Amino acid sequence: MSSLPVVRTVADLRAQVGAWRAGGLSVALVPTMGALHEGHLGLVRRARDLADRVIASVFVNPAQFAPHEDFDRYPRDEAGDAAKLTSAGCHLLYAPSVREMYPEGFATSMAMTGPAEGLCGAFRPQMFGGVALVVSKLFIQAQPDVAVFGEKDYQQLQVVRRFTRDLDIPVHVEGLPTVREADGMALSSRNAYLTPDERGRAVELSRALSDAAAAIAAGGDSAAALDGVRARLAAAGFASIDYVELRDAESLAPVTSAARPARLLAAAWMGRTRLIDNMPVVAAA
Ligand code: PAF
Repeated sequence: MSSLPVVRTVADLRAQVGAWRAGGLSVALVPTMGALHEGHLGLVRRARDLADRVIASVFVNPAQFAPHEDFDRYPRDEAGDAAKLTSAGCHLLYAPSVREMYPEGFATSMAMTGPAEGLCGAFRPQMFGGVALVVSKLFIQAQPDVAVFGEKDYQQLQVVRRFTRDLDIPVHVEGLPTVREADGMALSSRNAYLTPDERGRAVELSRALSDAAAAIAAGGDSAAALDGVRARLAAAGFASIDYVELRDAESLAPVTSAARPARLLAAAWMGRTRLIDNMPVVAAA
């Protein structure tokens, strides 16, 4: 049994945050959908460096899934998550119900352009409006000083940075580099869907992106590098490729070189599992 305190309502969350604030303590929030792995725990450890108290939220957000997506089969393990959060030094788990987040009569949505356009936004049109809605609610509910997100979902990180600025929400958004397995595969809760054979082949996503990022950073032709990634993914048995694209690292506007810091991003299907990954592309000075 984990001894991590759990709150499930906005009122209880605010009472705890209010008590901390009254004691002069700063607060960090790590928003998650649970099924926690070492990548999430790194976010919690970083949050501990940045604030006196760390809240992790675990909420599988229906608003960011389309009806045909994996909301129902998304892995859920609150007891396991609580034990991992305790070991990483988290102080409070916020695990609201869907009804608490979206009470009867809920009628608000968010729509974004800019960094939400293209990439995953083109293939999962529901996603970033749903992410912006739930993360802005979490920011308003918890009122943290800082919130920590992984670069694994790089487009999501840029979307969160954008709406936080656009809406003047006084939260510092901190991004942390992707945590990877020894062979380079990015950690993801959805890796649990992969068979051992699929997992073996899926590593080609990170390897192909890493090689292409190095080639573009060295001044190589970006179109050829992107084609090279597509060919390697097809050869590794990815069933289909949603996108392989080079974007400006901040605005996510399409670019063709690393004249400014850029990001190479891809999404592809290994069997029934959609995997995403991305790499920084920074030309040597
Ligand atoms: O990255 C995630 O796990 C989710 O998209 C987030 C940020 C917790 C919002 O539901």
